[in-house]
Amino acid sequence: MVFKNELALNAGFLPDSLPGREGELNELVFSLKPAFEGRKAKNLFLFGPPGTGKTSCVKKVFSGFNEESQTAKAVFVNCWQNPTRNSVLARIAEAVGEPLPRRGLGTDEVVLRITQEFHLQKASCVVALDECDRLLHNREDAVIYDLLRGDFVSAIICITNDRDFLGKMDERTRSSFQPSVLGFSRYSPVALKKILSERARAAFRPDACSDETIALVAAYASKLGGDARVAIEALWQCGKNAEARGSQKIEKRDFEMLKENPSVQKRLQGLNETEEKIISALKQSGGAATSGEVYRILEGEGMTDRTLRNHMKLLESKKIISVERVQLKEGWTSRITLLV
Ligand SMILES: Nc1ncnc2c1ncn2[C@@H]1O[C@H](COP(=O)(O)OP(=O)(O)O)[C@@H](O)[C@H]1O
Ligand SMILES: [Mg+2]
Repeated sequence: MVFKNELALNAGFLPDSLPGREGELNELVFSLKPAFEGRKAKNLFLFGPPGTGKTSCVKKVFSGFNEESQTAKAVFVNCWQNPTRNSVLARIAEAVGEPLPRRGLGTDEVVLRITQEFHLQKASCVVALDECDRLLHNREDAVIYDLLRGDFVSAIICITNDRDFLGKMDERTRSSFQPSVLGFSRYSPVALKKILSERARAAFRPDACSDETIALVAAYASKLGGDARVAIEALWQCGKNAEARGSQKIEKRDFEMLKENPSVQKRLQGLNETEEKIISALKQSGGAATSGEVYRILEGEGMTDRTLRNHMKLLESKKIISVERVQLKEGWTSRITLLV
């Protein structure tokens, strides 16, 4: 047994501290301060390569925000899971305790209802739109304009890997958005080492993971682009390799094995958050599950059936999962197998 708490290396795990991001966290807190008092705060634009801690930083600041404030609400929306104007608005409606019917209301009506509820509760909100580039697909970025006009919105935070996002926004929206810009850079090997040490302490039994392993994995992930997600996943894979050998300790050969496996490397790059969650769900199920099982595991994540299906198709095309139609007693279903 090398793992003490394998979940600490999961994609969705939010660690207590985010080494190397103290400056960004301070800036976020400082900038959102007025919003705590229900006043307008600066809008923000966060960009940077994948795995640089954008999502984690905002989630961290939001959890503090929601603990401390009753009337100011921080609403975090993942736009891959909520890719339309109305689905984004629905998440905000939920936050203020005004669930909307799934169909039947026009956008104006939805905005009106939300506005009334915020007024009634004398509340306000800060909205984070993570992976906001997804909204550009069908010009759903109009929702940003809806929100900018809403007097209950203290600030909007747009988060994306696409540094040109602002230029692609609808002209009218951009001119009223006017955000402060906060860029996230790739992690240095030193930063990755710190991140991995803390994770290793939470995830492995004492002595199962040496400083040498951490240094090797940090250097490896740094070469692959300074992505913390890659680093953490690589460390997890080392642990799995050691476990498969029946060892109590991760050794150099566990790391070498990881490097020799090109499919792991390929897979470690270029996955979005939703895809990672699907992979985590499959890992939890021992590497294979029916689509219904995956769906149930991810139910709490606010993912629709359609989002899930789309991402499964993408994962299948990247040869990360295989999907096979199988017949059960209850009827046909898809059996999903993790290939890497
Ligand atoms: N500074 C950090 N400290 C600890 N873990 C981090 C840090 N930055 C990123 N991570 C971890 O790396 C993974 C990717 O981070 P995330 O915030 O999703 O990056 P981004 O949104 O920029 O793609 C997550 O599992 C997160 O917990
Ligand atoms: Mg992210």
